[in-house]
Amino acid sequence: MQELINLDDFEQAALPRLPAGVRAYYAGGAGDEQTLAANRRAWSDWDVHDRVLRNVADRSLGTQRLGRPIDWPVLIAPTACQRLAHDDGELATARAAAATATPMVLSTLANHAVDAVSPVASAGLGFQLYVYRDRGVTRELVARARAAGCRALVLTVDMPVAGQRERDVRQQFSLPQHLPLGNLAGLASLATAPAAGAGVIGYVDGLFDPTLGWRDLEWLVAEAGMPVLVKGIVRPDDAVAAVRHGASGVIVSNHGGRQLDGAPATAHVLPRIAAALRPMRAAGASAAQPPALLVDGGIRRGIDVLRALALGADAVLMGRPVLWGLTVGGEHGVRRMLELLRHELSIAMALAGCANVAQISAELVERRA
Ligand code: FNR
Repeated sequence: MQELINLDDFEQAALPRLPAGVRAYYAGGAGDEQTLAANRRAWSDWDVHDRVLRNVADRSLGTQRLGRPIDWPVLIAPTACQRLAHDDGELATARAAAATATPMVLSTLANHAVDAVSPVASAGLGFQLYVYRDRGVTRELVARARAAGCRALVLTVDMPVAGQRERDVRQQFSLPQHLPLGNLAGLASLATAPAAGAGVIGYVDGLFDPTLGWRDLEWLVAEAGMPVLVKGIVRPDDAVAAVRHGASGVIVSNHGGRQLDGAPATAHVLPRIAAALRPMRAAGASAAQPPALLVDGGIRRGIDVLRALALGADAVLMGRPVLWGLTVGGEHGVRRMLELLRHELSIAMALAGCANVAQISAELVERRA
């Protein structure tokens, strides 16, 4: 694994090792995959105007999220069915997260259940929630996350129906029968629904609630008993509405280009969303908690993390690179991938003249003409 020196190396090493169906499911996006490609490209549209002579000998990557200190501004994004990459699945990811002091978000559609993953993910665990048509199931998922000691709920709102992922369609990919969806164990027929051979699209469209609206967010905030972050926001007005309806923050995301093909790259919309939330963040600073602002999509370099922070994010989430790390080397693969990213971020900060995260300010970045 030592020969893999950046996150793209991990992707290149992982892809050939995966069966064609899983490769399609993990790597693919919706439609023509324009948003998938744009996510990656868009970070480099921001030039970094580095500062010099700033004494960057001692650097701190630590920051805050939801009022808690975190060791560095990177989290693990929720991705479904990690046992498709490695038999230890989410447990391996959680061990790597703990070893690198990285908070983790566990998918509703994880193979390992939240009560098994939570004790391992010692840097903090959030639970990503899909809202099922059966509200009793949703309530039970929230109760399980709460009982497991999760610190936040991440409500994913960009999937009222499944995106048209043509690679999955061509491969006739379906969630495999032999891998349980641990969080749904014992919940009516849901845990076994994929075993019926339904593709992911069939599963989502059959079970997820497409009627979800802002009132349901208020319901969830009341039900949760922990902060709720809304994931899948690409518009400033939606970000403001989410906070007004009780969210503790938003995650700027287009689901890694897997939902609306044509949605903007997250690196392009982040600054506008940061600007829209700024008055609320300033007001919140004196109150209990300013709304959190996170982002994901196409982040593959330490310099991308720096760009995201300069554009207003508190932290970023990593999706596919975790799956590539798992595929290549289980826990150790994810750990090495995260260590490489951390090292790159530390160097990027030094070269940009930042000794700490607070110094990664908006004037550092400018959109190339
Ligand atoms: C995802 N993502 C996702 N999001 C979510 O809220 N719940 C989920 O279960 C999943 N599952 C999932 C599976 C796979 C295979 C992928 C690639 C992605 C989206 C994920 O959380 C994140 O938004 C993107 O992956 C971020 O983009 P990058 O880092 O993959 O470019």
